[in-house]
Amino acid sequence: MKTIKEGNTSIYTYESEKVSKDLPVFYNEVMKLNRDLSILLLNSINKHLMQIALPLSGTGIRGLRFMRELKADKIQNISFNDNSPEAIKLIKDNFKLNNLKHKALRKKRLVYIENQDANLFLLNSTGFDYIDIDPFGPPTPFLDASIKRLAREGILAVTATDTSALSGTYPKACKRKYWATPNRNAIMHEIGLRILIRRVQLIGVSHQKALTPIFSYSKDHYMRVFFTCLKSKDECDNIIKQHDTFNDAGPLWTGQLWNHKLVKAMLKECEDKETKQFLTILEAESKIEQVGFYQLHSICKKEKLTIPNFTTLIEKIKKAGFKVARTHFSDKGIRSNISYEELVNLLN
Ligand SMILES: C[S@@+](CC[C@H](N)C(=O)[O-])C[C@H]1O[C@@H](n2cnc3c(N)ncnc32)[C@H](O)[C@@H]1O
Repeated sequence: MKTIKEGNTSIYTYESEKVSKDLPVFYNEVMKLNRDLSILLLNSINKHLMQIALPLSGTGIRGLRFMRELKADKIQNISFNDNSPEAIKLIKDNFKLNNLKHKALRKKRLVYIENQDANLFLLNSTGFDYIDIDPFGPPTPFLDASIKRLAREGILAVTATDTSALSGTYPKACKRKYWATPNRNAIMHEIGLRILIRRVQLIGVSHQKALTPIFSYSKDHYMRVFFTCLKSKDECDNIIKQHDTFNDAGPLWTGQLWNHKLVKAMLKECEDKETKQFLTILEAESKIEQVGFYQLHSICKKEKLTIPNFTTLIEKIKKAGFKVARTHFSDKGIRSNISYEELVNLLN
């Protein structure tokens, strides 16, 4: 065992040479950004006194950080759940490490720590305003119960780490789990993210809940989406209208991946340098309503052109009257409403 610190929260974690789901209790420091962004989003959105559920809590790091780092009026109560008894013991130890008394907090109905299967935990509950699904691999086994127990105007956060299925290494697995055909090309991560979004939305509409993405991204070994929920048949129809194929991939979500105002607010709230860099790209990218992006290296290779200076090209595209920004999906990509032909013209 060792003690690590994230934000101003310390936790005990198990020691191992590499991060693996075979650890007695899983912890991955690479997911710090995932947790940082969750905190920024909840602090930036106009929601207060939330009932928060973490059905797959692991060491409890996410929930403990929420308790420390979310603004004072954000949490009504917070539920930690994990089906592993070792995880539950560690969560309780981690409460102590942070001088928090979980028994006293439970008496005050502020904190609950449960040791159930995630779906049973959700179905046995009265519902939540924020549910964070952070599993090993696909979130699909937990979607139905989460969406059933998501409040009418709640927020659902979903992580998927089976990116090899979503981005086309295993197309059959993608078909089985996500009911869509992925791509294996320069824009495969965006396609995968949009396939994941549609899959979540399909479960949503079957419960008359319209789930709109407000903040999405693909990074390292995972994809992440936050949805807002509206219980409305018309809004569900509106969601379905935005499901389509894109080239030979899909069906997928063709609507916006972000709420621009929210990304802007998150950027304003952010203090960490690395997170700020990431959010700066997303903030610019979120102003452009376009499915897919241009991967300049593959375009230049195909058209036998020299790779341009990015800043100069972006200025040229803007001058020609189009919207353009870099994309977080690829450091060689740009998102723009310029057509392929017009872009090649500018590259010549
Ligand atoms: C990826 S880890 C969670 C990481 C954690 N959310 C964090 O931010 O560090 C997934 C957790 O889900 C738990 N788990 C896996 N299947 C489960 C199930 N069916 N019900 C409840 N917990 C489950 C595992 O024990 C593990 O602790």
